[in-house]
Amino acid sequence: MQNTNNIDLSSLQRRDFASDFRWGCSTSSYQIEGAVDQDERGESIWDRFCATPGHIRDGSSGAMACDHYRRWPQDLDLARNLGTNAYRFSIAWPRIFANGRGRAANQKGLDFYSRLVDGMLERGLEPWVTLYHWDLPQALQDQGGWANRDTVDAFVDYTDVVSRHLGDRIKHWITHNEPWCTAFHGHYEGVHAPGLKDFKTALQVCHNVLVSHGLAIPVIRRNVPAARVGAALSLHPLKPASDSAQDAAATLRHDGLRNRWFLDPLHGRGYPADIWQRVGDNAPQVQPGDLEVIATATDFLGVNYYFPEIVADAPGQGVLATRVVEAENVERTAFGWEVSPEGMVTLLSRVARDYQPAEIYLTENGSTYDDVVGADGQIEDHQRRRYLMRHLAALKEIVALGIPVKGYFAWSLLDNFEWAEGYIRRFGLTHVDFATQQRRLKASGQWYRDFLRGETA
Ligand code: FCB
Repeated sequence: MQNTNNIDLSSLQRRDFASDFRWGCSTSSYQIEGAVDQDERGESIWDRFCATPGHIRDGSSGAMACDHYRRWPQDLDLARNLGTNAYRFSIAWPRIFANGRGRAANQKGLDFYSRLVDGMLERGLEPWVTLYHWDLPQALQDQGGWANRDTVDAFVDYTDVVSRHLGDRIKHWITHNEPWCTAFHGHYEGVHAPGLKDFKTALQVCHNVLVSHGLAIPVIRRNVPAARVGAALSLHPLKPASDSAQDAAATLRHDGLRNRWFLDPLHGRGYPADIWQRVGDNAPQVQPGDLEVIATATDFLGVNYYFPEIVADAPGQGVLATRVVEAENVERTAFGWEVSPEGMVTLLSRVARDYQPAEIYLTENGSTYDDVVGADGQIEDHQRRRYLMRHLAALKEIVALGIPVKGYFAWSLLDNFEWAEGYIRRFGLTHVDFATQQRRLKASGQWYRDFLRGETA
């Protein structure tokens, strides 16, 4: 592709994209809401995980976060003032069922999301809801969590309740956010809740999450006739560390678990045979009919794109015998993630070629830098602004290639609780002073607003 470094970024305009293109920001419940004890919300696995010293880098939790549970009208005003026409958010399952399941849903929790959705519609923001963005009710974890097949049924019941209550106003439904992270960060690496470190468990979790996705779809469609449903996957373009045949084979294996393990079964191909064979006894238990369920037709594929990975052969290292190596001489965000708008083009070209989803939405994309509030109160986050511009320039190329990308959601509307990194990593287009809860639009947010208003030419 054309190197986006050479693209005249100042000529990037909203009218380069279709008039019905979705422009939004993404957030998630645990990362912004706070109010964890409010209105009979139950405990989530993240409340529990954060309580153990050492799990979160700054010792914090989402107990207060952005106080969005109380400040949501102001936050939706921010989204409207940016000029976005869609907003992606998630529902905290423990607000709907404190113990994960039960006969009666918590009306106060449903009322909160009902008000929130009304607030979006009043502001011209199309609601895009995610049902599971990692805050599992702790009561379900106490019974094995996603490793226990019963959690699949609990998720379907929860989906039924939410889609019955909000389906008159929400058309776009995302079942799961980044199943890879749920499974591997949470159950193999142990860096996310529930903090387990077992490969076999992680694979069973993957499977159960995918089955729950498939079983939820007909439930949503039954309750919301006009629903459009999909899942949001974290996908990565991969490059081998060298020209060697070993590194090429390692890259294929890494791709097998990172990308194909999700994309293949969702598109009716079952689990990739090369990886299935390799994981041996760690393979998940698959019940008859599960693969058909996972392949239930969706309306779109959500892709969360952050960075590419470089892969090397690493004999003896883990089940895959692969290792991710650091690219040299590349630009990185404060997280160390390589900045590569080109990678987004490579990734989406590949997904479109190999899987032909009817529609693709970039459900997350964004960057973290060490922001400084100037004496004048301005946050001159030029690197984030440039990151956003370059990724939108890449998006323009993706559209020009004929790839059916129909929307872009920036991560994130607000600085928020960045999981294991606590409040150290800021991803917002809006700065949040966590001591005062003051919000200030950063230079990146100002640019996004100008772009959306058609004022960047
Ligand atoms: C993604 C998560 C999102 C946020 C960004 C930075 O993996 O979906 O919640 O943490 O990374």
